[in-house]
Amino acid sequence: MRRLLIAGNWKMNKDIHETATLINELKERLKDFKNQVDITLCPPFPSLVVAKSLIKDSALKLGAQNMSQHDDGAYTGEVSATMLSSIGCEYVILGHSERRQHFKETDEIVNAKVKKALKSGLTPIVCIGETLEEREAGITDRIITTQIKDVLHELSSSDVEKIIIAYEPVWAIGTGRNATPDQANQVHRLIRKLVGQHYSWRVAEKLIIQYGGSVNPQNAYALLSQPEIDGALVGGASLSSDSFTRIIQAAVEAK
Ligand code: PGA
Repeated sequence: MRRLLIAGNWKMNKDIHETATLINELKERLKDFKNQVDITLCPPFPSLVVAKSLIKDSALKLGAQNMSQHDDGAYTGEVSATMLSSIGCEYVILGHSERRQHFKETDEIVNAKVKKALKSGLTPIVCIGETLEEREAGITDRIITTQIKDVLHELSSSDVEKIIIAYEPVWAIGTGRNATPDQANQVHRLIRKLVGQHYSWRVAEKLIIQYGGSVNPQNAYALLSQPEIDGALVGGASLSSDSFTRIIQAAVEAK
């Protein structure tokens, strides 16, 4: 049985004070759901250290939103995998569509980042998903197949056992327009099938595949009760303790 993972991607929101307020509220509200699903918060870099100390007596885990594919050195403005693991980060979101769109990240770069993250003991949450044009052109499956092949390039079965895939249709991110539970479930099934073919069914069965894109308290239950959907990567609705808690509650009820 796969354990659900709900991750809050705060994007470029919340300063250090707002981070503390939100985490303290979440700790209070999420007490009842302890250990029923995995929950990770992904605040911006400047908040990570404070966030780590605030979650220390709770079941909440910590993730970053990005990292460099390089080890260290002259990469002004970048943050490395070892820096993240040294402050107690357990997860890192890689290849988010906003990174791909605004910072020209390619599947090759994402693949290099995944390898570095694994080397430092971080669990990568690897984002893939088609654009609206691609969906309308009927090539979603082809795009997903290529992305899976490229982001997992040269990874072993034991590597793939340590990663999480987030299926985030680009047209659903921040638009209020989510994939229907059935649309999402179909793509998740394809991802699991591809991993089964490239690796093994045992690896595929264990793979956690999150859905992301306009998840909110209203649609979370329907999405998370799909058999292939193992969690959610939540953007906008993770910024308030009320909506994030309601999504966690939906997750607990869905499984
Ligand atoms: P959204 O963002 O929930 O605001 O659509 C999801 C994401 O970008 O991870």
